[in-house]
Amino acid sequence: MSYLGIDIGTSGVKAFLIDRAGKPLGEASAKAVEPVRPKPGWSEQNPDDWWQATLEAVDRLAAARSREVAAVRGIGLSGHMHGATLLDRNDKVLRPAILWNDGRASAECAEMEAALPTLRDIAGNIAMPGFTAPKIAWVRKYEPRTYEKIAKVLLPKAYVRLLLTGEHVEDMSDAAGTLWLDVGKRDWSDELLAVTGLNRSHMPRLVEGSTPSGELNAELARRWGMSAGVVVAGGAGDNAASACGIGAIRPGEGFVSLGTSGVLFVSNDRFRPNTGGAVHAFCHAIPETWHQMGVILSATDSLNWLAKITGQDAAKLSGDVEQGFQGPGEEIFLPYLSGERTPHNNAGARGSFVGLSHLSDPARLAQAVMEGVAFAVRDCQRVLTDAGTEIDRLLAVGGGSRSELWLRIIATSLDAEIALPEDGDFGGALGAARLGFCAAENADPRDVMTMPGIRKVIAPDPALRSAYADQYARYRALYPAIEEART
Ligand code: XUL
Repeated sequence: MSYLGIDIGTSGVKAFLIDRAGKPLGEASAKAVEPVRPKPGWSEQNPDDWWQATLEAVDRLAAARSREVAAVRGIGLSGHMHGATLLDRNDKVLRPAILWNDGRASAECAEMEAALPTLRDIAGNIAMPGFTAPKIAWVRKYEPRTYEKIAKVLLPKAYVRLLLTGEHVEDMSDAAGTLWLDVGKRDWSDELLAVTGLNRSHMPRLVEGSTPSGELNAELARRWGMSAGVVVAGGAGDNAASACGIGAIRPGEGFVSLGTSGVLFVSNDRFRPNTGGAVHAFCHAIPETWHQMGVILSATDSLNWLAKITGQDAAKLSGDVEQGFQGPGEEIFLPYLSGERTPHNNAGARGSFVGLSHLSDPARLAQAVMEGVAFAVRDCQRVLTDAGTEIDRLLAVGGGSRSELWLRIIATSLDAEIALPEDGDFGGALGAARLGFCAAENADPRDVMTMPGIRKVIAPDPALRSAYADQYARYRALYPAIEEART
């Protein structure tokens, strides 16, 4: 028996196979076409690219591990959140999907909050342009002919599910990021839907992430050598899926993720909104569990941007930083290349370097970028603490966590220990496979979502604590000044 996780990321799809005991059996990936940015602050992707990358990744896995793939009984999906995939009544895609890091719908957010003053209370979240509903308000205003044809709005992984199973279904964790869900009740809200002129008929059916959502269609089962009746689980938004992969499902357990975006995530036993600090308060992917997170839009994306414009490789840049590292320098970076969610909720914010001199070379700028991202994570910690949340245990995930120095800077800025899992892959694809297992075998998620062994604990550096506290204070003072100069 085996279980397949499919993680639909912004830059590619990963297929990950586990056995009954949760041990990895194999994985394969396929790159997706990068999002296009037709205008500054916009970000779009063609849904068919997700599907082609999904087919490619699972085909590769089936070619390399045919026996194990033939034994798949459950599939779980994880996906980048919030993306608006608009379908007509024949399930035809109406326009490119508008993604999580698209900031065009700021004005629509304000209009939605004015139209329904209780919006924040019902949704438990601020209307932010990254979320799905404001994107539909934008389409309604600027592309009315497309808007009229909308029969269903799906999130990225729900679109892939539709092609896998023929069903329109979404899980609670991803649905919470639409701004149409009553997050406390775990149900669509008629009031929230009405703000964008939609109703329940436009929404997929809701299931919990660890329960079945449909069955793999016969043609695909044949293509991958699987038997009939493979269960597809509800799955999870990528952050909740990562939490399932790393075993962060009990109150106070969390992770810091350094991917394209950066996330500080913590599980809660009840719904705990803090809209004042732009905290995301969402359903977790397992029943009767919620989570909070602070989201920063450009984490490794910031370092990749610097690598691109300096003509260097991001790994080489961070290696150069390690070699010459002596604590914070003069340069400070604000990582708002795509605007920012937590804590500013400002899609129009822009990144900055401050404190440049003739000594500012690519390595020093790279260090400032890593520190700027660390301070953005510190901002998230501040607003989660304001919401009364204690983070008891923090693990590191995502590509950026390969840099121990980056984690040491973050641990020092947060004044908190960060645990590094032993070698292995504990991200969204594993979480999705675990959800597939739960749904197929009716297993209790609490038995399945275990934590990995810990390879190393990165502690705050006492010698650098006060220097980083001072640098963080300078960093915080810059945002209002730069905003004032910009507007
Ligand atoms: C979460 C968010 C991002 C995307 C990236 O609110 O927008 O983490 O899910 O994949």
